[in-house]
Amino acid sequence: MSAGSAMSPQLASKADIARGFGNARATYEGASRLQRLMGNTMLEIVQSQTRQSGFSGRVLDLGCGTGWYTRKLAENGPAFFVMGMDLSPDMVAHAGANASPDIAWVTADAEAIPLPNQSCDLIFSNLMIQWCANPVEVLRECRRVLKPGGRLAVSTLLEGTLRELDQAWRLADPGQTHINRFEPEAVFREAVSRELPGAEIETRNLRLPYASPLALAAELKQLGAGYKQAGRRRTLTAPSRLRAMCQHYPKPETGPAEPQSGVMASYEAAWVYWTCRESGDKT
Ligand SMILES: C[S@@+](CC[C@H](N)C(=O)[O-])C[C@H]1O[C@@H](n2cnc3c(N)ncnc32)[C@H](O)[C@@H]1O
Repeated sequence: MSAGSAMSPQLASKADIARGFGNARATYEGASRLQRLMGNTMLEIVQSQTRQSGFSGRVLDLGCGTGWYTRKLAENGPAFFVMGMDLSPDMVAHAGANASPDIAWVTADAEAIPLPNQSCDLIFSNLMIQWCANPVEVLRECRRVLKPGGRLAVSTLLEGTLRELDQAWRLADPGQTHINRFEPEAVFREAVSRELPGAEIETRNLRLPYASPLALAAELKQLGAGYKQAGRRRTLTAPSRLRAMCQHYPKPETGPAEPQSGVMASYEAAWVYWTCRESGDKT
């Protein structure tokens, strides 16, 4: 997780990422099964901590997308001043149009959060940092804007995510990348431990069923989460290549846990929970 990652030359531009998600704003929530699974896990933990401690204060949903979790966090009542922040102006406009006027909405980059030091009590960020060129900078920014005693809850996806789709594309279209970069777990753990001392890191392998490889590809498109790296071929997913990808997609093994029809996709999920002891400092 460094600024000069080996993958840097192929990183998607922020403009491409913002445009991709913005274009998917109307279809995103209907397709966000994985996002709900991971975000709900984190929300339950955050809500149980805030209820126990009688929490009140300023809450930031970083990379808020359509504002699903921004709205959930705001439901905690007037003790919470809630702000949703996202790179995509279209996502932010869409989120704001569907929410209470009490929520503040800001278009901004999580790698340069436009908030003062020690100004937030809770930062919630579901499945955003894997889209950042420099996730370490996001962790630093969170540390900077959190007040002492403030809490951070972050989820992300690690290397091995969508490995079946990656394998199928490698066979169908050798030499071309079709899957976004995901950080290796060891690199992620080392960066989190360095930037957020004492953070709890939980990882889990999640597998979701799909009617077909095409259904998986369609879901990624509806989410705005398709492959976006710079220099990709314009006709990357031409129909003949998609057909070849489907032929190479691994079939589920037979067994009680496997679907009778369709395919599975793997996601390497990670959650980070951290309490800031001394803002700005590595304690
Ligand atoms: C997979 S969506 C998650 C949205 C929301 N957190 C949810 O759980 O539904 C990722 C979001 O992160 C946003 N994003 C990507 N890079 C970002 C950055 N550098 N700063 C802020 N937001 C970013 C995208 O625009 C997109 O809305």
